[in-house]
Amino acid sequence: MSAPATIYGVGLGPGDPELMSVKAARLIANASVIAHFRKPGRPGNARTLVEGMLAADVIEEALEYPVTTEITLEDPAYADALRGFYDECVQRLLRHVSAGRDVTVLCEGDPFLYGSFMHLHSRLDGQAPIVVVPGISGMSGCWTASGVPITFGDDVLTVVPATLDEASLTERMRSIDALVVMKLGRNLPKVRRALQATGLAERAVYVERGTMAGEKVLPLAEKTDDEAPYFSMILVHGRGRRP
Ligand SMILES: C[S@@+](CC[C@H](N)C(=O)[O-])C[C@H]1O[C@@H](n2cnc3c(N)ncnc32)[C@H](O)[C@@H]1O
Repeated sequence: MSAPATIYGVGLGPGDPELMSVKAARLIANASVIAHFRKPGRPGNARTLVEGMLAADVIEEALEYPVTTEITLEDPAYADALRGFYDECVQRLLRHVSAGRDVTVLCEGDPFLYGSFMHLHSRLDGQAPIVVVPGISGMSGCWTASGVPITFGDDVLTVVPATLDEASLTERMRSIDALVVMKLGRNLPKVRRALQATGLAERAVYVERGTMAGEKVLPLAEKTDDEAPYFSMILVHGRGRRP
């Protein structure tokens, strides 16, 4: 008997295709079905990253978010829309599994770090074999792009999503040694205010599209506008013990 079909959640790394693991590249090249998330009307960053790596007869499942930034995260309609969407995505993947086809789900960075794949993973539990392939995270790509280590000695690294409210962000920032602020985008003005309130603004570094084409790295103090794309984050490097 052949092995049951498997769903692979494959981390693609931070954006430079050469930073993909050997295992990820092999699974992508051999995939008979790939699935990837995207905004309707866009090619999707994950799909763009694997251009030229796929088999000619690969079946593609483009999983298009019903909402992204049109509704606020606090609106119950947002969670409702996404719940239904992820349920439907799982059914789409399981139809391939039932037909004996493995499915490779493309995930930006690492699949288990704030990624959409985890919402499929939790729903798939027990319904199909799942293999998760870790990837270099976006934050690792970004601090490498900044050219400065993120943590020294006993530094504690704090990772916060910029989607937190301003009071929570400020509270978290009060006790950091080293900091990564993810999901920046339209939250930049709020994050900047929290960094100023906690005396961190002068140490903050803004990174856009780390390791990708169009990469930008600059001190936050030199970023005069409030425009930040989806692929952007802020770093505050640790200043811990060094020999
Ligand atoms: C939904 S999270 C997914 C994170 C991903 N799973 C990872 O391991 O990096 C998306 C956020 O990650 C950050 N991000 C990921 N890759 C990035 C990159 N190459 N440059 C800048 N920010 C990045 C951005 O803050 C973005 O809003």
